Amino acid sequence: MLQRIDDLLAEVQNFQTSEKAEIEQFRIKFSGKKGILNDIFAQFKDVPNEQKKEFGQKINTLKQAVETKLESLKNSGTQNLILEKEDLTRPGFPSELGTRHPINIVKNKIIDIFKSIGFAVADGPEIEDDWHNFTALNLPEYHPARDMQDTFFIETNPDVLLRTHTSSVQIRYMEENQPPMRILSPGRVFRNEAISSRSHCIFHQIEGLYIDENVSFADLKQTIQYFTTELFGKSKIRLRPSYFPFTEPSAEVDVYWGLNSETDYRITKGTGWLEIMGCGMVDPAVLQNVNIDADKYSGYAFGMGIERIVMLLYQMSDIRMFFENDKRMLEQFRSL
Ligand code: DAH
Repeated sequence: MLQRIDDLLAEVQNFQTSEKAEIEQFRIKFSGKKGILNDIFAQFKDVPNEQKKEFGQKINTLKQAVETKLESLKNSGTQNLILEKEDLTRPGFPSELGTRHPINIVKNKIIDIFKSIGFAVADGPEIEDDWHNFTALNLPEYHPARDMQDTFFIETNPDVLLRTHTSSVQIRYMEENQPPMRILSPGRVFRNEAISSRSHCIFHQIEGLYIDENVSFADLKQTIQYFTTELFGKSKIRLRPSYFPFTEPSAEVDVYWGLNSETDYRITKGTGWLEIMGCGMVDPAVLQNVNIDADKYSGYAFGMGIERIVMLLYQMSDIRMFFENDKRMLEQFRSL
């Protein structure tokens, strides 16, 4: 019996064909219901106990060999089929091009607008220290305005945090450079907020800063008006008094969106006005913190959330869509 299995093994290993019918015959002969393998397995119970181990190993080897052989015969068969039937000179399927994310599209538009009036782009880290995110921006420890931005701190070291706004880049840039300076800093910011259709704990901002001699509030207003005209095609703006610790005076900018459609009524709550950013004249205390002479220089700063602006431009109603990366949403921005 053992000898027979050895012979069968040799037969399996030596078998060769590329004919489909012969492969099928081989399969039936060995692995078919009434095939050799089943037949031998059926005899297993009659094998004397002391031979069972060796016998078992041998039939398993044979079974393996049959499977391997069938697999390789089938593969060589399909290869032949492909070679016979397929035209290998046909071009492959086109690979799909990705699309830019709407956040990036709008970010680049905003950068282009400010670049055209002399602003340069400056970067800063997302993991910040207390000084750059808060203290140097005139938000000392225990200042109540820190509550406006619910912060992710690193547990083991409260001096290390995820920046809550891109205003931190103002400080980094002013520490390293001397006026005049005009910068724009786009980037991700983080706040510990409940995620809903209107808020998310990661979002994007763009910060602007201009410091020079004799910079006035009129310069700020004119720059923002230029910006809203270029981006939205809307030049009617108003500045409402507001409060930010790093600017004095501070304002919130509304752009007149109009009341031409039902959507306009909804998003402006029937007023026609939409808030798009915060801004103000850089507080002299901030300039002193970075060793810039506040008697000689003045400047303005502004900050806006990119998601909000994308939502306005493309009438999107849910901020969570930006982070889901659903291809059906992203593809709609292909042509922009
Ligand atoms: N950092 C503010 C925020 O995150 C936005 C802001 C307001 C930035 C006024 C400014 C500014 O530079 O002047 O809400």
